[in-house]
Amino acid sequence: MSEINSLPLILWKCKTDKINTNSKNIGSTLINSYENNLFSRWSLENNLRILLLMLLVAIALFKLTFTYPALAAETSNGAKIFSANCSSCHIGGGNILVAEKTLTKEALSKYLANYNTDSILAIIHQVQNGKNAMPPFKNKLTSEEILDVAAYVFQQAEQGW
Ligand code: HEC
Repeated sequence: MSEINSLPLILWKCKTDKINTNSKNIGSTLINSYENNLFSRWSLENNLRILLLMLLVAIALFKLTFTYPALAAETSNGAKIFSANCSSCHIGGGNILVAEKTLTKEALSKYLANYNTDSILAIIHQVQNGKNAMPPFKNKLTSEEILDVAAYVFQQAEQGW
């Protein structure tokens, strides 16, 4: 090969070498950014995990702090409903019309149908529909109020009024 002819070849070689180094550079940049990406994805997932954990702890704390006051509010609401609607006949858990049919645990398990299998449901049923001299309350109280007052009666019966 003559020298003149080999010049383009040298030029061509230089060019491809440059391309090669360039593509090597591009390749390593690609690998680098892929690794960075992997790393940031890894830390993103970890951060999400930590966030999730914090959220769960927060929910648990929230539940612990607010469950008990919420229950207390429900029964105190039940107490209010009881004194407004029931105590005229059932003052202190008694019964001024039918002496033996009180709201004590013993009387309820003796006289109230299904009290022994599903206490609160049995009270709800009685309050909704009434019985004999006891008027029904389903048009007077909301179902939530009936639930509240039934829970209150059950709690008081368990505690012995
Ligand atoms: C007008 C009086 C009167 C009012 C007001 C009244 N009750 Fe009664 N209640 C009765 C009578 C009478 C009975 C007995 C019914 C029967 O079985 O003959 C009774 C029975 C019950 C029983 C079953 C007791 C047992 O030993 O069998 C429950 C529970 C009860 N009432 C809850 C309530 C609740 C809760 C309220 C208020 C939302 C209420 N009552 C309002 C008169 C009343």
